[in-house]
Amino acid sequence: MAASNLISQTPITLPAKSLNLSSNLSHILPFKIKPISRTFTSLKARIPRAVLSTPEPKTQKVQHCFTKSEDGFMYCEGVKVQDVMEVAEKRPFYLYSKPQITRNVEAYKEALEGLNSIIGYAIKANNNLKILEHLQKLGCGAVLVSGNELKLALRAGFDPTRCVFNGNGKILEDLVLAAQEGVFVNIDSEFDLENIVAAARIAGKKVNVLLRINPDVDPQVHPYVATGNKNSKFGIRNEKLQWFLDEVKAHPNELKLVGAHCHLGSTITKVDIFRDAAVLMVNYIDEIRSQGFEIDYLNIGGGLGIDYYHTGAVLPTPRDLINTVRELVFSRNLNLIIEPGRSLIANTCCFVNRVTGVKTNGTKNFIVIDGSMAELIRPSLYDAYQHIELVSPPPPDSEVSTFDVVGPVCESADFLGKDRELPTPPKGTGLVVHDAGAYCMSMASTYNLKMRPPEYWVEDDGSVTKIRHGETFEDHLRFFEGL
Ligand code: LLP
Repeated sequence: MAASNLISQTPITLPAKSLNLSSNLSHILPFKIKPISRTFTSLKARIPRAVLSTPEPKTQKVQHCFTKSEDGFMYCEGVKVQDVMEVAEKRPFYLYSKPQITRNVEAYKEALEGLNSIIGYAIKANNNLKILEHLQKLGCGAVLVSGNELKLALRAGFDPTRCVFNGNGKILEDLVLAAQEGVFVNIDSEFDLENIVAAARIAGKKVNVLLRINPDVDPQVHPYVATGNKNSKFGIRNEKLQWFLDEVKAHPNELKLVGAHCHLGSTITKVDIFRDAAVLMVNYIDEIRSQGFEIDYLNIGGGLGIDYYHTGAVLPTPRDLINTVRELVFSRNLNLIIEPGRSLIANTCCFVNRVTGVKTNGTKNFIVIDGSMAELIRPSLYDAYQHIELVSPPPPDSEVSTFDVVGPVCESADFLGKDRELPTPPKGTGLVVHDAGAYCMSMASTYNLKMRPPEYWVEDDGSVTKIRHGETFEDHLRFFEGL
């Protein structure tokens, strides 16, 4: 463990041709891998142009940053995933494209041109500190759901006055920190309002609050990620609005009402749904303003879906989303806050695994990999589809069959994909689960003592850098030291 730490802290630049290393050397290899430009150019030459071009045509088909090239290998921004596998600290691991993160933020920024706005990145989607620092430098604010997320946002350099604290169970201690730092706080319930008032008194600061109104619009998504319907545990019911307005009025030294917030759910693929909610929300804003409140912010939450299926579907872009509410926002002279998580980070990453073996039981074929529900739980928890591919060309004689792709965890719920048509992979083949940037590493556990994996990203210049150490067995033992 000590050795691997030392290694990762002494980045050395390797020429790309030395990437093709035998795996028995991998444990002593340093990161960072920095391909020399000649080799990088020749890699580029073999990749279809569309994969490498930076500015993408607006709307149209989704371009993915992990793509199979004509040589049958998978590349991320010109870097062969197989090469990264050879030198990674351990497998499985997460591999991101930093340029894709930038492109995703730029798409939102361009969509928001002409509006006063805050892009509040929802940290719950992915809390890697290096990624947060990058998003902060690109001009994002942050959306938080715990005091620790707030502390991390501060560490990453986010401006707290461009941060929003959400949640149906915010605790007093975290609210005090939010009040001290000047974060926007969403009021979620009667008791939440009471706690925010108490926090304001403790911090000696007035809190800028938004009312999280539950607009009761069906987001048409999996019930576990729907939040804006009337039986949801989040937000306040509109019929209680007057009570909350009266309470805010009754606490002029503690609360300043600055806006209204809603969040309908996640993985939404129809922008009409956002528009329906925004229409209701501006009506509430009209009503609130008519009572003398000077409120300026409309927060429409996050929730835009992405192309998990990789079928070439045309999905709404950030521009489509913003355009559907732009006129409403203008008509009331509002500042718009959006809270994207998934649509900023999901498609920037693959979860990279190695095939342990292939087996058949009854009528089922299984590809068993080293990754599992412990590192990536979305398929098990939501029956979510995430596209799966091999990172290298299969042997010419390999048969294509229907497989469940499963991990080694002691649960039948441990699968990454079901009924996938794939070439039968030899042992050791690399296999990726796509779109793993959001709600994958941040939801990872150490179940079965599978320690949380390391993370890497491909930099703008095509070099690969480790952005989080893998957890180790020693890390686990540390929780028992001194007991
Ligand atoms: N704002 C609020 C108040 C939220 O509750 C969420 C997500 C977001 C913003 C960001 O939503 P996004 O743009 O990422 O869809 N674990 C689930 C997703 C849970 C989302 C929870 N709330 C999954 O893996 O799909």
